[in-house]
Amino acid sequence: MREWSRDERYRVLQSADEIKDLHEKISKSVYRQLYHVQPVTGLSSDPNGFTYHKGVWHLFYQWCPWGAVHGLKYWYHVTSEDLVHWKNAGVGLKPDRDYDNKGTHSGSAISAGDDLYFFYTGNHRDENWVRTPWTCAAILGADGNPEKLPEPLFGPRDDYSEHQRDPKVIYNEEKDMYYILIGAQTLDKKGTILIYKSKELLSGWSFAGQLNVPGYESFGGMWECPYIVNISGKDLLIFSPQYTKLPGRAESTNHNVYLIGTMDYDTLTFTPDSDYQYLDFGFDFYAAQGASNVGDPEKAILIGWIGLPDNHYCTEPEDWEGSMSLPRELRIVDGKLIQTPVSAVYGLRDGEAPADGTLPAACEIEVAFGGGDADFNLFTKADGTGGFTMHYDAAKGVCTFDKTGMTNRCNEHVGEVLDMPLANGLKKLDIFVDRSSVEYFANDGEATFTAHSYPTAEEFHYTACGDVQVKIWKLKASVKDDFVV
Ligand code: FRU
Repeated sequence: MREWSRDERYRVLQSADEIKDLHEKISKSVYRQLYHVQPVTGLSSDPNGFTYHKGVWHLFYQWCPWGAVHGLKYWYHVTSEDLVHWKNAGVGLKPDRDYDNKGTHSGSAISAGDDLYFFYTGNHRDENWVRTPWTCAAILGADGNPEKLPEPLFGPRDDYSEHQRDPKVIYNEEKDMYYILIGAQTLDKKGTILIYKSKELLSGWSFAGQLNVPGYESFGGMWECPYIVNISGKDLLIFSPQYTKLPGRAESTNHNVYLIGTMDYDTLTFTPDSDYQYLDFGFDFYAAQGASNVGDPEKAILIGWIGLPDNHYCTEPEDWEGSMSLPRELRIVDGKLIQTPVSAVYGLRDGEAPADGTLPAACEIEVAFGGGDADFNLFTKADGTGGFTMHYDAAKGVCTFDKTGMTNRCNEHVGEVLDMPLANGLKKLDIFVDRSSVEYFANDGEATFTAHSYPTAEEFHYTACGDVQVKIWKLKASVKDDFVV
């Protein structure tokens, strides 16, 4: 693992020429994704500014240009008309003001009237490295890039810690009011959400209060990337609690969870109907953000970061890492969250591949389970050994994923074995394999499991055991790895 000095991590990108060779080098990697958004160079982390505006889906990712390291963060812009074919559009926001001198950190966007508005955290640090997180705004300009307001909208509150960031803007029709949710930490280091409100998007913001979530007053040390959305009359609260271990998550201290319940914007209380759930049971899924302006009260659309803070991945020596997840449709059916890939993903099918134990580099695999214990192991060697295994224990109703058999391993200390429990047993897995990620959707969206995977050339095989039927489709590429900065 390379050691980076602070100066190297926080180096300002002066010109695209400085990273052209790096892009040239990494574009040859066998782990470059074919249908997932990935960093043009360096590192991608949280999805930001995800919105539908005038016929185009806009998405940005937290981007550090220099390598597989968290340093000076930019917003890198990609666009799509169908949520599946993405084009690189270049740098969206760069840290070029005093108030965001050490990073344009995570945030969101909303389309209103003719304009697209952005809200982000300006990560300011002084010469003693003391941090001030500003909530800042920008508007999409005629040239297709966000133009910043001269001044931030508001600064941090001094009755909370320095961890106040990731503004998620939402509009509540009933109150005819905009709200900004801020991921935060109390002075005694408990995770929480702060709420600001305004009738206007670019002015008039006032602090409304701290979100009350009964039963969650002491749940993790910081709630990153908060999001509230109403789907089919129920409210869904999503956030990424960190600095805590949670049951069933091995040694990880970063998680992405959700609660279904009722949001009261008068009392700023989110009353959960039931316990928190994991948004994804996999090794690598975090900081998920729902799109604004989806325009359908029956669903939300969400993208996560395939990766976790404080983790290191196998492409690190190639000077890049990270990927966006597939965009997912979220619905609430009978009080339960259902997550499925957006339908356009199925348009990538490029003919069936023989279910003969070999794996195409980019494919969708549908595995139907007839009952009883079963195994479905990806990325095994030709003799069936090794791989990224999945064992289903029918008596317990639990799928256990184990990546210790892979040749290329990462984050061993965080845990390489995780369970995905299923309330009504395993009937189906829909699996999306790209060159460095795998996403499992169980039982048409009841639970999901997302991870990075870095198979070697010898590991493009699978094995199946038990009452299982396997169908495989090759998938077409839908992201261009072109150099636009
Ligand atoms: C989540 C996060 C955010 C922050 C951003 C910085 O991964 O820590 O809270 O805004 O990353 O890149």
